Amino acid sequence: MYNPKVVDYFMNPRNAGRIEDANAIGEVGNPTCGDVMKIYLKVDPKTEVIDDIKFETFGCAAAIATSSMITEMAKEKTLPEALKISNKDVADALGGLPAVKLHCSLLAKEGIQAAAADFYMKRDGVLPEGLTFPENCTSNGGGAEEERFVSEDSRSAE
Ligand code: FES
Repeated sequence: MYNPKVVDYFMNPRNAGRIEDANAIGEVGNPTCGDVMKIYLKVDPKTEVIDDIKFETFGCAAAIATSSMITEMAKEKTLPEALKISNKDVADALGGLPAVKLHCSLLAKEGIQAAAADFYMKRDGVLPEGLTFPENCTSNGGGAEEERFVSEDSRSAE
């Protein structure tokens, strides 16, 4: 079902885990399949460059592979640049996803969007024009929440 690149990003996820001193966190869920993704960002407040980014995803192989890929693509970009990464960009970078799994790449994009919105709300108290919290955002700028996630780190450990 998955091409070898997707399998690699699922089996050897990049940037899995959490950032303890993250200054923005976004959490999104897909109510249909139940998959949940949490994105942690460490953003330079002045330059808006993403110095570090990690994810915790409870979900299917494609959700983990797309989280993994989007964090690689977004790292060291500015937030406005990272927000331009489309779900198609992520799916293409993975060499394609099965049609029934394309929504998984949307979840990854929305995770970044939710975390970016969280950053701007904390820094400025308002969202920049054109940015909203995604509809399926479950954090909504509320900051850190307690563990309900299986991080890929813990899943693959041992
Ligand atoms: S099956 Fe829903 S995110 Fe993958």
